Amino acid sequence: MPSIDVCYSPELIHLYDLKGKAVVAVDILRATSTMVTAFAHGVAQIIPVMQLEECLTFASQGCLTAAERDGIKAEGFDLGNSPFSYMEGLEGRTVAITTTNGTRAIRLSEDAQEIVIGSFLNLQAVVQHLVNLQLDVVVVCAGWKGKFNLEDTLFAGALAERLQEDFSFENDATLASLHLYQAAKADIVKYLGQSSHVKRLANLNIHKDVSFCLQHDVYDVVPVWQQDALVDVRANYKLA
Ligand code: MLT
Repeated sequence: MPSIDVCYSPELIHLYDLKGKAVVAVDILRATSTMVTAFAHGVAQIIPVMQLEECLTFASQGCLTAAERDGIKAEGFDLGNSPFSYMEGLEGRTVAITTTNGTRAIRLSEDAQEIVIGSFLNLQAVVQHLVNLQLDVVVVCAGWKGKFNLEDTLFAGALAERLQEDFSFENDATLASLHLYQAAKADIVKYLGQSSHVKRLANLNIHKDVSFCLQHDVYDVVPVWQQDALVDVRANYKLA
């Protein structure tokens, strides 16, 4: 039986052997929720980038560029990091994106056999994909600037809850994530009301992104890292 493990921050990735495993990279507020929303609305590819300067260079290749730092859209880029900015007019486009934490979590996971982009929005699609894949799973939480955050850990717990019949739990981090999610799931928006990033976003007058990103099972997309970009592997099934 494959296992599921949880890494609470990209700064802890060096403690995990990712070779031969599937990483589910998660940044609920908001990078991976935004990426899933973009694919669900027709974006063809997403290139996660670590640095602002590198991200801008993709404009010369016909890509749209997107950047966020500390929750704010960076100057000089086409898009920011709100899922609501990716719901129309981007069909068939490639987006190069850099965010404070989410793109870092993805790029630092490149030793994995497969990197899957997870969010509450595509939770069940990710569950089905992982059950089919039958690889050991490590959920890599983006956190906030290397520190633990609640929302990504709640996602890890939600994933563990749905996989518990098919995957063994390897450590306390998975068990703790599960218990945290089970304590929060009755009203996850209320539970996260006091979390640091929800308060940070509220200070920026960003409210609707939070409730949107906490919805479960809205989109049937599974973005996976392939060669040098993320693509939606479910799109292939739909075309077939
Ligand atoms: C991140 O990548 O750190 C987050 O998505 C920040 C944000 O956009 O609120």
